[in-house]
Amino acid sequence: MLFKQQALLRQKLLVLASLAIGSLLYLVARVGTLDRLQPICPIESRLAPPEPEQIPLRTLQFKRGLLHELRKGNATKEQIRLHNLVQQLPRAIIIGVRKGGTRALLEMLNLHPAVVKASQEIHFFDNDQNYARGIDWYRGKMPFSFPHQITIEKSPAYFITEEVPERIFKMNSSIKLLIIVREPTTRAVSDYTQVLEGKERKNKTYHKFEKLAIDTNTCEVNTKYKAVRTSIYTKHLERWLKYFPVEQFHIVDGDRLITDPLPELQLVERFLNLPSRISQYNLYFNATRGFYCLRFNIVFNKCLAGSKGRIHPEVDPSVVAKLQKFFHPFNQKFYQITGRTFNWP
Ligand code: A3P
Repeated sequence: MLFKQQALLRQKLLVLASLAIGSLLYLVARVGTLDRLQPICPIESRLAPPEPEQIPLRTLQFKRGLLHELRKGNATKEQIRLHNLVQQLPRAIIIGVRKGGTRALLEMLNLHPAVVKASQEIHFFDNDQNYARGIDWYRGKMPFSFPHQITIEKSPAYFITEEVPERIFKMNSSIKLLIIVREPTTRAVSDYTQVLEGKERKNKTYHKFEKLAIDTNTCEVNTKYKAVRTSIYTKHLERWLKYFPVEQFHIVDGDRLITDPLPELQLVERFLNLPSRISQYNLYFNATRGFYCLRFNIVFNKCLAGSKGRIHPEVDPSVVAKLQKFFHPFNQKFYQITGRTFNWP
């Protein structure tokens, strides 16, 4: 009898012990999973190679066909329904910087089969009239896409407009933000060149860059001049950082996008958690144009419009030096905040 009771007790203890070991093993496994899901340092996790993502073949087949027809307004409602196409709010926005290479960046990212670009600058968040039209108006401006694709828009005015960070935050606080920058003095001259061309087209005269960039009374840099103010990147970024953590921004080197675009695009693919799909095949240097152009496939390729890549006017070297000296401390701060350093003077 005693022997039978002892055997029963041993059996119960065995069951309890195996239950305890099982729970322990489960906990260890769970903690391991959580560790993997929630990296301690988001910046590192961002740089880790993304999990290969399955992009359905039909996306690749239809992207240049059906989506293109849709953009031209040629697809039927039936086709839209049949292919489960939707207009999605952007999951990433190129917020600036004007003349940094925003168009080139958008067009190059659009080479990726999982990316769909909003072709026009929508100016939803920086224009009060558009903003008052509401989020559904904004969504209606987005291109059709497959649900697993991501929509990207670019409006460089967003970067420098006071109200925009809060408005974007209200739409999506975890949105990814891309900023493409160039050496600040070159960017300011490029900005000036664009305005100058507009004036010339209207047969209007315009001041020389030197006159606008330098205050004639003080001989100091004229910070009231918009082309100068826009190049003080850190000032604008600091306003954005009141709403978004620095990890939600990715800084693109606009000067390198001109000379060697692929590595810059690969960094953006990682930031967007997309599998690497843009390759050297998609980018070819066009000597006549003096820039890289885009190759989608064997039959379809294109260069950016002639308005991208204007010849800049010659600027007095002493003015260039003054501007470079002026931007220097702001650049240092920009490097410090973003963790991306450039060889700017
Ligand atoms: P410049 O006209 O000063 O050369 P944005 O699209 O933001 O207005 O920027 C325009 C700038 O994009 C151009 O400035 C040009 O240098 C740059 N850019 C970068 N890659 C380019 C490319 N592949 N083709 C044309 N322009 C490009």
